Amino acid sequence: MRTFTSLLMPAGFVCAVLAVNACTKKPTTASETAATSATPTITIGSAIYKYEDTFMSGVRGSMAKAAEGKATIDFVDSANQQPVQSEKVDLFIAKKVNALAINPVDRTAAGILIDKAKAANIPIVFFNREPMPEDMQKWDKVYYVGAKAEESGTLSGEIVVDYFKKHPESDKNKDGIIQYVMLTGEPGHQDAELRTKFSIKAIEDAGYKTEKLAQDTGMWDRIKGQEKMAAFLGSRGDAIEVVISNNDDMALGAIEALKAVGYFKDGKVMPVVGVDATAPALQALQEGTLTGTVLNDAKNQGQATFALSYVLAQGKVPDQANTGYAITSEKYVWVPYKKVTKENMNEVM
Ligand code: GAL
Repeated sequence: MRTFTSLLMPAGFVCAVLAVNACTKKPTTASETAATSATPTITIGSAIYKYEDTFMSGVRGSMAKAAEGKATIDFVDSANQQPVQSEKVDLFIAKKVNALAINPVDRTAAGILIDKAKAANIPIVFFNREPMPEDMQKWDKVYYVGAKAEESGTLSGEIVVDYFKKHPESDKNKDGIIQYVMLTGEPGHQDAELRTKFSIKAIEDAGYKTEKLAQDTGMWDRIKGQEKMAAFLGSRGDAIEVVISNNDDMALGAIEALKAVGYFKDGKVMPVVGVDATAPALQALQEGTLTGTVLNDAKNQGQATFALSYVLAQGKVPDQANTGYAITSEKYVWVPYKKVTKENMNEVM
């Protein structure tokens, strides 16, 4: 079960619940609300790649909640700029935080952050944006919490397959080929690359032929998703048989663009599939505009990130007994994904 704050509330509200300064420029968030009942002596420095990201707001909310009464999490917004994040990490190191929990802006910069953390002997847990495997091996106090990107791709492809089996009329031109458009996340992000690849693979593995009509990046962003979808509709129009999006925000943007040209009324439908299962996406599932999504479990990713950081901050070695999460020998925690459609959406609320 996901918490109210991590799933059901819009990002802005999560922000307000988290702490006043999550939405302002002050550097801490969890600390002021999380640490009311005790005076935690442990401080974790956490840099988020960009506060204005719906899914990451859920992860941040979950971390803050997990820290309540145990530790202070000093959250900072990296404003989607790696130099800003690196500077914030320098400040955390200067302040001698007990552990770092980092959502990198540029995952290839993780190696440099590890070098800095190692020099100061401050353990570091990365989350959501996976460092390169060779960087993960640089030090024994480096961990990663995330979800297997290929799994989310496969599950979103399976949702498309289920839909086409149930609605053979969705093959509008009756050519036996699924004509799709793809909205991709940020280039270089493991989730963007692998969701794109594995969603199509799952459709083809199920015996369908596919044809890509258009593909472009919406950078995980709802407005950009809407703009790109409007462009796809302008060039390919009614030839499009399904919209596959690497995340829900872009899928919701695509739905807006589809609505603007008359979809979702008078029997004109378009299957649209996303990933994340954010609150607005569940709303769209309920309304019948979004066909399906894949639960990217913000609650467990946030809890696991905190649990590992907290154990490391106390100088201990994390394992399943002291974190509640299975940790691989390479120091990864993988939180599973789950297919979500209108039929089972109550299970993730
Ligand atoms: C993905 C998520 C996206 C976006 C991205 C940020 O896992 O699906 O919506 O939040 O992480 O790195």
